[in-house]
Amino acid sequence: MSGVIISPSILSADFANLERDIKRVEKAGADWLHIDVMDGHFVPNITIGVPVVKSIKQVTTLPLDVHLMIENPEKYIEPFANAGADILTFHYEAVDNIEGIISLIKAFGIKAGMSIKPKTDAEEILQYLSLLDLVLVMTVEPGFGGQKFMQKCAEKIPVIKRNAPDDLIIQVDGGINAQTARICTEYGANSLVAGNYIYKSENIDLAVKSLRN
Ligand code: DX5
Ligand code: ZN
Repeated sequence: MSGVIISPSILSADFANLERDIKRVEKAGADWLHIDVMDGHFVPNITIGVPVVKSIKQVTTLPLDVHLMIENPEKYIEPFANAGADILTFHYEAVDNIEGIISLIKAFGIKAGMSIKPKTDAEEILQYLSLLDLVLVMTVEPGFGGQKFMQKCAEKIPVIKRNAPDDLIIQVDGGINAQTARICTEYGANSLVAGNYIYKSENIDLAVKSLRN
């Protein structure tokens, strides 16, 4: 995998044809598959749970990049890890014991990610960067696909980048298209999540390629 890691979000896929839509992004050259887990509490929407992740694992070889937008994520690390998650990203705002949840995730031999909402400053999380494999900077309020990119949030990327170990993956999620992807990669992001831009495009192959370039 060279350069930027593209992680299409299946939130914008057709859930009645999920396998077909996963194959489409696989063929288009996606690197990971982004799975948005929402509980109706941490965010005002309900989506996918453990059984669906387990089923997805059977039909794809793409690493499963699971974004937990849930309260008490520490309770669900084990079930999601056992279901086949390769990257588990929790929200900083949902956890008291940050070091604890990071070691819990790593104990399953998978990557540990932490995400911040638009209102959380980058400075708040700098102390945790050396413990993490990935930081996810949300560029919309988490909860729904198809929202407008918030440039202000992307400005946190260079702050994180300056303070991070070289191998930290800096991911962005929300309103990513060819233009906003460029802004984020110039700031130092090296992983892009995109839902609507990929799944609502006429040509999925081109959409994935345009993000990479
Ligand atoms: C939003 C989710 C995103 C969502 C992105 O809360 O975390 O992953 O699918 O969708 P787009 O790319 O359409 O903004
Ligand atoms: Zn997401």
